[in-house]
Amino acid sequence: MVLEVRKYGDPILREKAKAVALFDNKLARLAADMMETMAAAAGVGLAGNQVGVPLRIFVADTTSFEISGKKFAVINPEIVFRSEEEIVGEEGCLSIPGVYADVKRPKKIKLAGQNLKGEKVELEAEEMIARVFCHETDHLNGVLFIDHLSTLEREMLKGKLAEVRNKAAAL
Ligand code: CO
Repeated sequence: MVLEVRKYGDPILREKAKAVALFDNKLARLAADMMETMAAAAGVGLAGNQVGVPLRIFVADTTSFEISGKKFAVINPEIVFRSEEEIVGEEGCLSIPGVYADVKRPKKIKLAGQNLKGEKVELEAEEMIARVFCHETDHLNGVLFIDHLSTLEREMLKGKLAEVRNKAAAL
């Protein structure tokens, strides 16, 4: 089932999501729905609070970044290593449609979390995939990519951001 993607201005995007404790069918269903929602919106990542569920889960689709790419869910993700080397790349967000900006992120990261069965997983990622993991983990802490911009950069996006917020409020 395709879920509604919450837009910039919705307070749930600023909530710190709660840890998942129950690895049941309901969680699997949520992950499947989030995958479907991500695909329908042509996104590469989607976090729980973006679909109105303040739980620490995100889904990612790395097929466009690597030949052996895949779609998967990460539960209770935590970035346990960030390289000192950072790279700048353009980011967008399904919750902030039409807004894109360059964001500096670590080149390499290590992500620890759990899979849908509750088993521990550790994922090493770099470049674009590291970027997606950082962006999605941020979401679960109530952080949006625009928060990483300078005051000046945010100022320049002010009009567009107000547009997204007003459109969402009018729904
Ligand atoms: Co996003």
